[in-house]
Amino acid sequence: MKLRLTLAATALIAFATSVSAETCAVDVEDPFDLEEAQINEIYTCIKEKMVEGYSKGDDPVAPVYREWAVTSTRPAVAGPHGNRLLQTFANDVAAEQYLKFADDGFVMPAGSVLAKESIKINKKKKAAVVGPLFIMTKGETGAAPDADDWIYSAVQPNGKPMKIKQSFCHDCHSGWSDSDSLAYPLEEVRVSN
Ligand code: HEC
Repeated sequence: MKLRLTLAATALIAFATSVSAETCAVDVEDPFDLEEAQINEIYTCIKEKMVEGYSKGDDPVAPVYREWAVTSTRPAVAGPHGNRLLQTFANDVAAEQYLKFADDGFVMPAGSVLAKESIKINKKKKAAVVGPLFIMTKGETGAAPDADDWIYSAVQPNGKPMKIKQSFCHDCHSGWSDSDSLAYPLEEVRVSN
């Protein structure tokens, strides 16, 4: 009896340790208070877990987007997208134009894909947790007439598709109509080509 209890206790401790080793602790409540060094630390801690989670389902972007062009020097908090830390990747079709961060005078080529990973600061858990992977895909002319031919999608941290409304995403993105609905990362973190 005693032995069994001890074993159970040992297993419990081992479990608790493995959980805390996986948790990416954060000591600020407001993501806007995060310093660059803290963000880099969070990213190092959570990076692998993000792709692992997104790739558990069958979304074709999830397992490949990290090989695409990264558009910022680190994740950053812009505000929209739930005050999450955001980092966008551009596929081969999109990268050349996207990385110009042009304000006007262009339309993204069909086949462009932008994938934006996100990290949420969970105040209760005092930890950084994986947020959804947000995706914009440019279709052929006429593919999505109400959304400037952009098709929006998102993958949950567990790899399952997120239920979204095209209009929910595009109502906000269409505010950047001069730059083909692209909002771009914060200026201070942009990586230009
Ligand atoms: C309230 C406004 C708003 C809504 C709603 C919104 N976005 Fe965004 N989105 C932004 C802003 C602002 C950025 C740029 C901020 C950044 O990446 O740091 C952005 C960036 C993006 C990017 C990177 C390409 C770019 O524009 O530079 C993708 C991909 C994206 N959003 C997908 C989505 C999807 C999918 C949805 C719907 C589920 C959505 N967005 C809803 C404001 C919004």
